[in-house]
Amino acid sequence: MSASPVYLDAATAAPPHPVTRQALLAALDDGWADPARLYGQARRARQLLDAAREAAAATLGVRADELSFTPSGTAAAHSAVLGGLLGRRRVGRVLVHSAIEHSAVLHAAEKHVAEGGSVGPVPVDRLGRLDLPAWSAAVRAPGVALAALIAASHEVGTVQPVAEAAEACAEVGVPLFVDGAQVVGRVPVPAGWSVLTASAHKWGGPPGVGLLVVRKGTRWESPWPADERESGRTPGVVNLPAVVAAAASLRAAAADAAAEAARLAPLVDRIRARVAADVPDVEVVGDPDRRLPHLVTFSCLYVDGEALLHALDRRGFAVSSGSSCTSSTLRPSHVLEAMGVLSHGNVRVSLHRETTEADVERFLAELPGVVAELRAEAGVTAL
Ligand SMILES: Cc1ncc(COP(=O)(O)O)c(C=O)c1O
Repeated sequence: MSASPVYLDAATAAPPHPVTRQALLAALDDGWADPARLYGQARRARQLLDAAREAAAATLGVRADELSFTPSGTAAAHSAVLGGLLGRRRVGRVLVHSAIEHSAVLHAAEKHVAEGGSVGPVPVDRLGRLDLPAWSAAVRAPGVALAALIAASHEVGTVQPVAEAAEACAEVGVPLFVDGAQVVGRVPVPAGWSVLTASAHKWGGPPGVGLLVVRKGTRWESPWPADERESGRTPGVVNLPAVVAAAASLRAAAADAAAEAARLAPLVDRIRARVAADVPDVEVVGDPDRRLPHLVTFSCLYVDGEALLHALDRRGFAVSSGSSCTSSTLRPSHVLEAMGVLSHGNVRVSLHRETTEADVERFLAELPGVVAELRAEAGVTAL
């Protein structure tokens, strides 16, 4: 009998929290009508939507009218960037962002450049930490409309100095957009941001729900054609059952977050130490201390990343890679490149509430053999 599969890719999508399933099923029965209509079923849907917004806002410590539900974290990030730039176009057309933003932010930045705007990427060090002096200088330059900083790297887990970056922005009146997809529901988000986004399937909510929060007083203008829903910040009807499940699971995940972090962080420490000790020619990347509690990345020299993911999948381990060349880009990870670290044979392991110590032990027991086999197949020996 083969062992049951071990899912270790929570940073892409965490398995649904039990609350997600319950809330989704209940809201499917009760929340299918269009909340904007004027009959009983619609009023019930409106009540559910209002309650979901109140709950999500309370969990994040923001006002309900500052929060909109979007079709994904990507859609939220696109709106955050393009709307932030549009709202301050009279000030200038420069977007400052870290070099390690998620592709959702970078793609919005590319669109901005294609339309005549400009960008100022700010470097990170070898651990993936923002260069704060360079950031402060960049946001001080003339014509900066918006600054964007990922709260913690989705590829290597390094937590960014959001509070210090926000202070530098506040000194010169530049709004800060924080992509909180990897932190919301797991670790507290530092204050000081003007726009925040998140993604429900990262905290165990359903796929296809994002959050866009625009603080009162922020000059943000919708970049989309007019639509009155969700305060005009994101077009189209929301997937109400999924939104209800997202809000309920966010509350549940946030309530357990500190305990979960305390349980998972030592497992990540164990992976960091054992991978470095048991696999030859490996580089464990990211900040060992200022890091997410559930995510660890390492790169194995002389191994093809995609081949490694497939080999691990055949053994029952679901992991992902920042640097596997995808057919759409055929480029290694811009994050690892910006850090100046090895991107060969890159593996990202991300844990979740169902991950057990036994899962981690099994992974650690099998990984060195899988890597050795692939190296032997490629003719790499005597390491
Ligand atoms: C940091 C970060 N931002 C944005 C996103 C996009 O979120 P979604 O998958 O909901 O589109 C992700 C997902 O990988 C992410 O990790």
